[in-house]
Amino acid sequence: MRLLPLFAAMALSSGSVAAALADDAPAPARVAVRAAHLVDVQTGTVRDNPLVIIDGERITEVRYDGQVPAGANVIDLGGATLLPGLIDCHVHLTGDPSAVKGDYYEAVLKRGSIDAAIVSPVYAKRTLDAGFTTVRNLGADDYVDVSLRDAINRGDVPGPRMFVSGPPLGATGGHADGTTGFSPLIEFHGTTGVADGVDAIRHRVRENVKNGADVIKFMASAGVLSAETSVGAPQYSQEEMNALVDEAHRWGKKVAAHAHGAEAIKMAIRAGVDSVEHSSLIDDEGLKLAKQRGTYLDFDVYNDDYILSEYAKKGFPASTVEKEKLVGRLQRENFQRAVKAGEKMAFGTDAGVYPHGWNGKQFATMTQWGMTPMQAIQAATVNAADLLDMKGKIGAVAPGYYADLVAVNDNPLSDITQLQHVAFVMKGGEVDKNEIKR
Ligand code: ARG
Repeated sequence: MRLLPLFAAMALSSGSVAAALADDAPAPARVAVRAAHLVDVQTGTVRDNPLVIIDGERITEVRYDGQVPAGANVIDLGGATLLPGLIDCHVHLTGDPSAVKGDYYEAVLKRGSIDAAIVSPVYAKRTLDAGFTTVRNLGADDYVDVSLRDAINRGDVPGPRMFVSGPPLGATGGHADGTTGFSPLIEFHGTTGVADGVDAIRHRVRENVKNGADVIKFMASAGVLSAETSVGAPQYSQEEMNALVDEAHRWGKKVAAHAHGAEAIKMAIRAGVDSVEHSSLIDDEGLKLAKQRGTYLDFDVYNDDYILSEYAKKGFPASTVEKEKLVGRLQRENFQRAVKAGEKMAFGTDAGVYPHGWNGKQFATMTQWGMTPMQAIQAATVNAADLLDMKGKIGAVAPGYYADLVAVNDNPLSDITQLQHVAFVMKGGEVDKNEIKR
């Protein structure tokens, strides 16, 4: 209570600063970004000699006649290729495998979400520097993701635009329940998304909405990085999934379902989820259902390489690596079948399971397993923007869109690994980095 007058005074003074700025605010800075090529993700073509005109945080015009408007500051990227800022629909900015330095239980038992909050801005910056100007954070304890999103939006720390879920919902003993496998006498504190039964699930969805979630994430199936013995078995009943999606949609929130197993994937799609994450063991019926319902499929197809080569060395439980072997290869084969079937697909990496900033490595895996480079780029731009309900605002370089731009030194369509070395990043008209070779 004693703090109240101080806060009131702060609110007053910041209010008058804002008023003073509004009175004689200068016109937004006009910038023209010039490059040799632009990947036009809306038409699936590459255009030459683009000039992107930006007023403040938005693009006002894309022209090809080279005419710089009067008074515009030119950022000349020479021979580089421009693309829209990239979008990763599945990250966890509150964790990174670098946190586990040989002793998994040290990381799990001696640190908590306050420790996660301390380091998460570092991972946010790495992600932005890698060219990902927007991410969807699908799961964080104690709403650390909400606070990180808000700090970025206030301009307190640099980072990508974030859409966040808060704690993911899931069944007791399932993939969202971090206490599985520990002594029942150990008590863990903090907010998780564990909820069982229709009423508890509806309540838990409302709690997440109340506390700032943009999207509802839940565990439809078991998983790799959790202690239950199955990797893909359903963990909610159909009735529970139906109620969860119904409740989330009533509050205007989309739903993302973690699901590896074929049955859990179909149950989630039938319940009406907006995206299936991992999608590892999807069968023909699942592919058909997803197509009928317009459900996005996100396959984190790079993950397997990193888990198999690094997790044992880092001290993760052997059971995690064993479970990974049950899904990794099949996930890639099923990704390829989904591409052939013409499914709606968005780019989601699950970065946090592998190092932040490496998000772009997944493009190469996607093209090795059946996508054209343009399709892979579209998954991380136009498609991802559609899944995030941000069409018309992000995911393309066009008038009215946020000036979220990245550039690479060489043609990403002939060398997709260019997207692992993004050399220029602009978010909302602000240059985050410029390392273009000139
Ligand atoms: N977070 C996921 C889980 O624990 C990671 C799965 C990674 N494996 C893969 N093949 N994509 O289930």
